[in-house]
Amino acid sequence: MTVNELIQKSEDYLKDSNNANYLADIKILIAFFMKTSLAKLYAIQNDKINFKIDDYWQQLMAYRNGKPIQHITNLQNFYGYDFYVDYNVLIPRYETEELVDNINIIIDEILLNNGDKPLTLIDIGTGSGAIAISLGLENPSLTIYASDISTEALKVAKRNIKQLNCKNVKLLEGDMLEPFIKNKIKADLLVCNPPYIPKNQNISNRVKNYEPHVALFSDIDGLYFYREIFQNWQKVVKKNGILCFEHGYDQKKDLEKLVKEYFPNQKYYFQKDINKKWRILFINIL
Ligand SMILES: C[S@@+](CC[C@H](N)C(=O)[O-])C[C@H]1O[C@@H](n2cnc3c(N)ncnc32)[C@H](O)[C@@H]1O
Repeated sequence: MTVNELIQKSEDYLKDSNNANYLADIKILIAFFMKTSLAKLYAIQNDKINFKIDDYWQQLMAYRNGKPIQHITNLQNFYGYDFYVDYNVLIPRYETEELVDNINIIIDEILLNNGDKPLTLIDIGTGSGAIAISLGLENPSLTIYASDISTEALKVAKRNIKQLNCKNVKLLEGDMLEPFIKNKIKADLLVCNPPYIPKNQNISNRVKNYEPHVALFSDIDGLYFYREIFQNWQKVVKKNGILCFEHGYDQKKDLEKLVKEYFPNQKYYFQKDINKKWRILFINIL
């Protein structure tokens, strides 16, 4: 069987599977089995497949039943870098790349105005390390501390630091601000993409059954982790520092109320993502 024939057969098998991404994911899966890149798959479309077809169908069936393609390939590209991912970490999302992009702009501005001022950044709840490592690779002069409460997630982050040869990210284990306070770390930039799904909210089985709940769910309104940071940021952020958060697309109103309560004298702004959903919050400490 050729690559092209397998693509056709797989499309027939998945066309009524209720998965919007199946056309792209089939190609990712076949490229993975052919040990080639997606970009090169087109060039070998008439080649015979070189793997055991049973193994492939087994994975395609698992995919049809909800297993994320990233858990089969153990790969997610984020900000141009290939991250190892598995069931211990949140699969880094496209929206989060936009957070990283905005932080890169902020870092450029700070460096432009302050010369080669050494900057320290902390990333709370780093998961795969996607935010911390891509910022570290883009900004080699930064010192970055990234934390997580999950030992297993930190193993994944460690693997990515090594795989991507990132020299300026150090990992810490612990609950929220505690490891930074304990190590007397004070940052110029605090970044956090916390679990923000309200604990009773219904979400797709694809996410609920395969991604770690510690990375997804918060308390009843989904704002627990923001409150925790808003109450104690002074312990870990320097004067003139900046706090950067991702949040749920429907949380702006409630989050803004909290910001006004905890930061009555600070400047803040929200930003929309590419889908025109409010997603990002920045607070400038004056
Ligand atoms: C939404 S995920 C974000 C992962 C990664 N930063 C990203 O953007 O792809 C939230 C992360 O927070 C971690 N986490 C959950 N509770 C925590 C806590 N109390 N203290 C520190 N990290 C926590 C989870 O293990 C998970 O890795």
